[in-house]
Amino acid sequence: MTLVAAIDIGGTKCAVSLAVVEKDCVVFMDKTSFLTPSRPEIAIGEISAALDAMLIRYPDPTPEAIGISCGGPLNSQAGIILSPPNLPGWDQIDILSPFRERYGVPVGLQNDANACALAEWRFGAGIGCRNMVFLTFGTGMGAGLVLNGQLYIGTNDMAGEVGHVRLEADGPWGYGKAGSFEGFCSGGGIAKLARTLSLQAIQEGKPPSYCQTMNQLSSLTAETVGMAAEAGDPMAIQIFNLVGRRLGQGIAMLIDVLNPEKIVIGSIYGRQHKLLEPIVMTTLRQEALTFSLDVCDIVPAGLGERVGDYAGVSVAMEILNNV
Ligand code: BGC
Ligand code: NA
Repeated sequence: MTLVAAIDIGGTKCAVSLAVVEKDCVVFMDKTSFLTPSRPEIAIGEISAALDAMLIRYPDPTPEAIGISCGGPLNSQAGIILSPPNLPGWDQIDILSPFRERYGVPVGLQNDANACALAEWRFGAGIGCRNMVFLTFGTGMGAGLVLNGQLYIGTNDMAGEVGHVRLEADGPWGYGKAGSFEGFCSGGGIAKLARTLSLQAIQEGKPPSYCQTMNQLSSLTAETVGMAAEAGDPMAIQIFNLVGRRLGQGIAMLIDVLNPEKIVIGSIYGRQHKLLEPIVMTTLRQEALTFSLDVCDIVPAGLGERVGDYAGVSVAMEILNNV
């Protein structure tokens, strides 16, 4: 039985949890989450305070390791967050030392997509796979790759940085360029598409059901648009059709390059599965090589919304197995 702490630093939220791991079973004892502070030193302070509070509630035993998952680009060896597009202002942040010094246990850092891939592979939809891909599809778009039964991080942690790949000459900005995979397939991308189309429609005097006035534009989220699409709003459906097609294109590329048995997709795919799956599958039948597509399952995260918590746990377990 191993007690570990898991820290998930996302573009939108930070989560801290305490978990007991026994073989293939994880039991979460405690969890707190809060909006990710824009300043890294404040985030580190809030995370430590959350963990301290948990360790007062559960004083015994103390965690054996801490696993951190965070959006990249980052340097997992050095424990440095480089300058993630979804954490503006976080440049060259040493994230390991503060926790190592405070808690005196091994601390590991891994790209969030990679950590989620490990989590789904160990505990979720990827159990038993030799080759699988995890796609985050949340605040950002990143891929984690398990190849030949091992996490593949590339030469300097950059494997799976698919979010920045340009799928179209034009489109929502993501990763500093228009039309990128992350530009279309992310929470921010969906909101941006909705803002552009809604503005046009409001100006033409035909506002969509989910955004009646200019004031509502800035508060539009992927979730609002998803709910409107489920309720049959034509513009929201149009947006999800476009996003689904771009998601299918991105997945086709991964299937053709890697020939995986499974593609597991997080956050938004889980929530809007019914809307997105038929479009993704139609696109894949047009774009991917049939031989590879036939052997590949495309599924939402088996761990659902908890995949981020399992991600940190998996990083902690990984570091314990390597010490
Ligand atoms: C980052 C990736 C990350 C993904 C999801 C992208 O913007 O470049 O490293 O995995 O967002 O957070
Ligand atoms: Na990755």
